[in-house]
Amino acid sequence: MTRIASPRMAIVGATGVVGTTMLAILTERNFPLSSLRLLASSRSAGTVVPTAWGDVTVEDLAIADPAGIDIALFSAGGARSLEFAPAFVAGGAVVVDNSSAFRRDPAVPLVVADVNDEAISSHNGIIANPNCTTMGLMMAAGPLHRAAGIDRMIATSYQATSGSGQAGLEVLLHEVDVLSEKPEDLANGAWSDPGSTLYSRPIGFNVLPHAGSFVDEHYTDEEWKLVNETRKILGDDSIRVEPTCVRVPVAVGHSVAATMFFDRAVGRDEALEILEGAPGVEVWGDDKVPTPLDAAGIDATLVGRVRETLGEKGGLNLWVVSDNLRKGAALNTVQLAELLLD
Ligand SMILES: NC(=O)c1ccc[n+]([C@@H]2O[C@H](COP(=O)([O-])OP(=O)(O)OC[C@H]3O[C@@H](n4cnc5c(N)ncnc54)[C@H](OP(=O)(O)O)[C@@H]3O)[C@@H](O)[C@H]2O)c1
Repeated sequence: MTRIASPRMAIVGATGVVGTTMLAILTERNFPLSSLRLLASSRSAGTVVPTAWGDVTVEDLAIADPAGIDIALFSAGGARSLEFAPAFVAGGAVVVDNSSAFRRDPAVPLVVADVNDEAISSHNGIIANPNCTTMGLMMAAGPLHRAAGIDRMIATSYQATSGSGQAGLEVLLHEVDVLSEKPEDLANGAWSDPGSTLYSRPIGFNVLPHAGSFVDEHYTDEEWKLVNETRKILGDDSIRVEPTCVRVPVAVGHSVAATMFFDRAVGRDEALEILEGAPGVEVWGDDKVPTPLDAAGIDATLVGRVRETLGEKGGLNLWVVSDNLRKGAALNTVQLAELLLD
């Protein structure tokens, strides 16, 4: 793998909730870039963004010249990645892609920094960043899998609305405002639908057992990502995953309640020792259970409620929560870019 010193960087989708977090993280980590370009749609083109590297004018992706970039962090949706990433690669860039466009391509590594870093060296110009829900879960599952081999896992997610971008955040705030006007109606069934169309049902004061779009076998694409991406990241297609993805009225921070069974019995003490030694993971005790509000704005993935299974012995129940905009998206792309540095 060619390593790059002082890369010329670009963020594609720079004005989105993930893109702006990428810029913030590059700044926080004092990323050693030599130049920075910001790209988005024609709606944002011309906007001037003050950055640690000087003012940068947002370019229209559709007409921008993709040459002269060493590393491009793509976060403008899968359709843009499919259409534009190949031209960036042809122009000499390595693309770290935050969409689902290339994740299942066997020629594209799918990498969680601190879990399967070694996979990055096989890239051919595109590296895929995993789905935000799978990412946090893998921070705990990866080290446990290396120690004892995950045989099967039941995973239920509690996903924040910022996982649907800026639009998701706005819908949550709007619906909470509208529904708060008549709190008594939340208890007597007289509430009226605030009318947002982003989700299939209201998300304010509610829980939706429906994150993503329904695809095969009555599962959503978010649920299939948990199955397929877990197997690819852990390098084991035999792992059985039973996913349920739920949208909750949380702004930032995706949580997963997971039950895991291994090739051998794993007790709580061993699990705690493994997780406490895992990079990027913090284990919290029952005195302060980790929540999305705790995970929002920080880099660590928080793990709590580590328990031995009660029914079938030998497995573990645990709770994992991480910032979907940071470790779930922007932080991991920046960490992958750091792995490309000379
Ligand atoms: N939010 C999360 O937790 C999360 C986590 C992991 C992965 N992702 C993925 O990250 C990507 C971005 O998500 P987001 O949450 O940041 O969404 P977002 O807030 O809606 O931002 C979307 C970004 O894409 C740009 N864009 C949209 N259409 C475009 C077009 N036709 N040409 C060029 N740029 C275009 C937007 O530019 P304008 O501002 O000009 O419209 C904006 O910069 C998606 O692929 C998403 O699946 C998101």
